[in-house]
Amino acid sequence: MQQDSLKKFPKDFFWGAGTSSYQVEGGIENNDWAKAGREGRVPVCGIACDHYHRYEEDFDIAKSLGQTAHRFSIEWARIEPEDGKFDMEAIQHYQKVCKALQKRGIRPDITLWHFTLPLWFSETGGFERKDSPEIFSRYCAFVVEHLKEYCHHYATMNEPIVFASNGWNRGTWPPFKRFSLFDFLSITNSGRQHKARYAKGLKPFFLYLRVVKHLAQAHNLAYDAIKHVLRASDVSIVKHVILFRSNKNPINILIAQFINWWWTYRFMNKVYKKCDSVGLNYYLQKKFGDRATYIKTDMDWDIYPEGIYDCLMMLARYNKPLFVSEAGIADAKDDRRGTYITTQVNAVWRAIQNGADVRGHFYWSLLDNYEWALGFEKRFGLVKIDYTTLERKIRPSAYIYKTICEQNAVQ
Ligand code: BGC
Repeated sequence: MQQDSLKKFPKDFFWGAGTSSYQVEGGIENNDWAKAGREGRVPVCGIACDHYHRYEEDFDIAKSLGQTAHRFSIEWARIEPEDGKFDMEAIQHYQKVCKALQKRGIRPDITLWHFTLPLWFSETGGFERKDSPEIFSRYCAFVVEHLKEYCHHYATMNEPIVFASNGWNRGTWPPFKRFSLFDFLSITNSGRQHKARYAKGLKPFFLYLRVVKHLAQAHNLAYDAIKHVLRASDVSIVKHVILFRSNKNPINILIAQFINWWWTYRFMNKVYKKCDSVGLNYYLQKKFGDRATYIKTDMDWDIYPEGIYDCLMMLARYNKPLFVSEAGIADAKDDRRGTYITTQVNAVWRAIQNGADVRGHFYWSLLDNYEWALGFEKRFGLVKIDYTTLERKIRPSAYIYKTICEQNAVQ
């Protein structure tokens, strides 16, 4: 590789990959997703990758791949299985997880909540509850109190808007409430069915707005609670940004601007003051008035890794340090992942040159995992999981990422 054509990242830039508790740990039965699995509404997660017992092996792999940081989440239902009752053994497990990372020279980066809710909370309304911000921040403070010795980097929540839209708008995730204008007007057959099954007129839409409001309040309250426990913490939010763009048609420009506001800025404007840094999850783009056709990932998403540049520039307006908390591709054959990563990391480098204060990058995901309502079929991992034997196998593209991590540079 030609050294002089290498694009160098700032010293101290961190490189890693992410996972989330429910998607990899296995053995979690007391949350809303496990219940939905038992009811046949989403695939059963079961033992997943058994990461709960195999984290040491998985961190050995991360280390062998040159990674210097690891993003993972805490399972709220394990920590607080009953309202206000905290499980010390559960928190001790995550202390061991942090120590295992530190032993390998990998910096732990914790997401306190990644989509799944303890049953006692979801069954009593979850984030529809007026007191949900207090309940959430109480949980966050407890976790940080017990992990502060090992970790200074905490994201309060992962993708609040995805959580709210899938749960109260599209109706594909717990609590499966759906609102669409077509349903509301009962125009289509499926609309009539959905209306009968889930929606009561406009109600889910108002509930969606309420949930979003509570999520913003929950983040802001949790920020203060975490700071109270650990002043030196770096507290962030992880925001999923869909890149809405357009051709030169003024109407399309307006539509794109409006939807960017609705999806990204509206929420960020409510929380950015209580963020020491902001994490970006990037997967999707939509260009209005676009005639181009895109090659698709296994999720049927356009392959457009360079779009991460615009997303970082969108978040740069908040003047906070940024990091890529997730960016990745479902690619079972592993024939596109390497190029995807290289192109995407190039775009991150360009964003830094143009003023975005990006501090690190987590590929999604370290391991193949439970892709929510789609089960185990979609393969995002740098590491392939054989779900029968639970054998781990490093994919060829992981070595492309390894070179980037080790050189702190991209070609
Ligand atoms: C979520 C992950 C998910 C990934 C791929 C992100 O929106 O945080 O949990 O696996 O996208 O769909």
